[in-house]
Amino acid sequence: MQVVTTRAELRAALASVPRPLGFIPTMGWLHDGHVSLVARARAECATVVVSNFVNPKQFGETADFERYPRNVARDNAICEAAGADIVFAPTVDEVYPPGFDTRVAMGAVALPLEGAARPGHFDGVATVVALLFNLVGAERAYFGSKDYQQVAVIRRMALDLAIPTDVVPCSTVREADGLAMSSRNVRLTPAGRAAAPVVHRALAAGVAAIDAGERSADAVRAAMSRVLAAEPAADPDYVSVAHPDTLAELAVIDGEALLSMAVRIDGVRLIDNELAG
Ligand code: PAJ
Repeated sequence: MQVVTTRAELRAALASVPRPLGFIPTMGWLHDGHVSLVARARAECATVVVSNFVNPKQFGETADFERYPRNVARDNAICEAAGADIVFAPTVDEVYPPGFDTRVAMGAVALPLEGAARPGHFDGVATVVALLFNLVGAERAYFGSKDYQQVAVIRRMALDLAIPTDVVPCSTVREADGLAMSSRNVRLTPAGRAAAPVVHRALAAGVAAIDAGERSADAVRAAMSRVLAAEPAADPDYVSVAHPDTLAELAVIDGEALLSMAVRIDGVRLIDNELAG
């Protein structure tokens, strides 16, 4: 496995690699969720590239960006074991050289849910992913459905900007107790970690209500909120029942529904979702 840190080194490393090329963009502090994306790319592509870059443009507060966990040496070992061929781990200046002055501004797909809670977040994501897609030139890029809206944003961006990289959504990898794996989970205290599976339990309650025939989206939101309310450590940011394509909030469930939520536990913001119906 080759580790490169500059655009020039990346270009050289990619010059004559076998195709198709599979790409997994990450912000590092890799866990089994990331590993599942690398494994999927390994199974489907001749060459696998992972990027490891904590993107300052997608963080609202500098403090959150600075607190983000980092350990590139550990990440490189994980990538190598998972079968990656090339890791691109650039500095902020390499990605955004002095004078960088472009922003990809997303429309309606980035407005609700995470976009409403984190203004500017998806423009920051779209900006870095557009740039990375152009630098890597992969046939396919692999993303986790844990970040459902992120997948929708990147699909839209690649389509609109005519970037010929297929966006492949992959299922969410969970801990045994249901908690979705996330780089942020390490910031939970032991008590917070013990409380955190409530997020997935609340989603499961929403799915169960729909499976049992509930068609009122408000009733499903209430079922999820009741589970969260029983856990004093859980501070919900939003609880949503939305259309899986438009992400608009539903009144009546008459097809597939995207159940999603953001919940603060110990000050750590956890997001998760399930498709139901
Ligand atoms: P990061 O949070 O590091 O996630 C990188 C990829 O791993 C994303 O596609 C994410 O959805 C996926 N992922 C995270 N947790 C997962 C889990 N439990 N199961 C399956 N996949 C999981 O998402 C980002 O970085 C950034 O926004 C990025 C796209 C790299 C742009 O900076």
